[in-house]
Amino acid sequence: MSLVSGPGRGGQFQGQLPNELNLVIEKHVEYIQDLGTRQDELEYWLTEHLRLNGVYWGLTALHLLGRPDGLPRDATIDFVLSCQHENGGFGAAPGHDPHMLYTVSAIQILATVHALDALEADGRGGKEKVVQYIAGLQSHSTGSFAGDEWGEYDTRFLYGAFNALSLLRSLHAVDVAKAVSHIEACANFDGGYGISPGAESHSGQIFTCVGALAIAGRLDLVDKDRLGAWLSERQLSDGGLNGRPEKLEDVCYSWWVLSSLSMINRLHWIDGEKLTKFILNCQDQEKGGIADRPGDAVDVFHTHFGIAGLSLLGFPGLKPIDAV
Ligand code: FPP
Ligand code: ZN
Repeated sequence: MSLVSGPGRGGQFQGQLPNELNLVIEKHVEYIQDLGTRQDELEYWLTEHLRLNGVYWGLTALHLLGRPDGLPRDATIDFVLSCQHENGGFGAAPGHDPHMLYTVSAIQILATVHALDALEADGRGGKEKVVQYIAGLQSHSTGSFAGDEWGEYDTRFLYGAFNALSLLRSLHAVDVAKAVSHIEACANFDGGYGISPGAESHSGQIFTCVGALAIAGRLDLVDKDRLGAWLSERQLSDGGLNGRPEKLEDVCYSWWVLSSLSMINRLHWIDGEKLTKFILNCQDQEKGGIADRPGDAVDVFHTHFGIAGLSLLGFPGLKPIDAV
């Protein structure tokens, strides 16, 4: 069996892989580029409610794969702007209601292609309008954030607010200290964090809470050893990671778990080589794309988070990614 070797960036992946477990970079690039052209397929329209998120996942994956020009820049900016509402928020696609999660994707996309100044075009209200939309979703009593006007609160929205506001250099527009207190209230005895105070620890929610604390400069509040131990227990015998005890492994936790470990400087507490092999085994070697687990259908969400996880592991040939 011939082997390819990789030097690794963060000292995680230093091993050798069988040839058949190569990252099929060109296939993934084509898979992502094709997604926008499949408008005659039912799946394209069934995923319309995630369109802006999907553009962000695809675009970021292309950047990590070394193809920052993989999607047409002007059309990408035009599409993002076509999703904006009068109140400054963004919907998933034109005509969809505004929501925190699409607003974050919009800002992330514009930041990625260095086009935040597009918000300043005549009649849009500039970045201030977006900042006010986000700030308006913070609860004055708890410090947490709602996803939209209907008032569902979740640490995902708090993280999203911090992420977008930090990209817009406007974190001062919200009550950071109160939001940080809310995150502290979401901490559990096992070192993890839940969706709201008292809720079970979940790796996705841990990413949002630790990420928000990182943006706020308050990682000192995290019980790093306890959280690191809980996160490292997410690795199963096939190398894949699950989101909480007794659950199945899933490629997207290669991001939620690894990025959290990275933020608390404990990335080496899982076996990076075994996880690398698990992610590579989830690829569609012929058509490109990555699935949640081996043999399942691929999608852009798992393609993005699989590649992002490999990047954190220092996989050769991938661009570095910021865990926060
Ligand atoms: C499934 O939960 C949920 C996910 C796989 C996503 C988790 C990620 C987050 C909550 C963070 C999202 C962050 C932002 C900023 C949007 P499940 O309980 O159905 O799955 P399980 O069986 O794996 O536990
Ligand atoms: Zn998943």
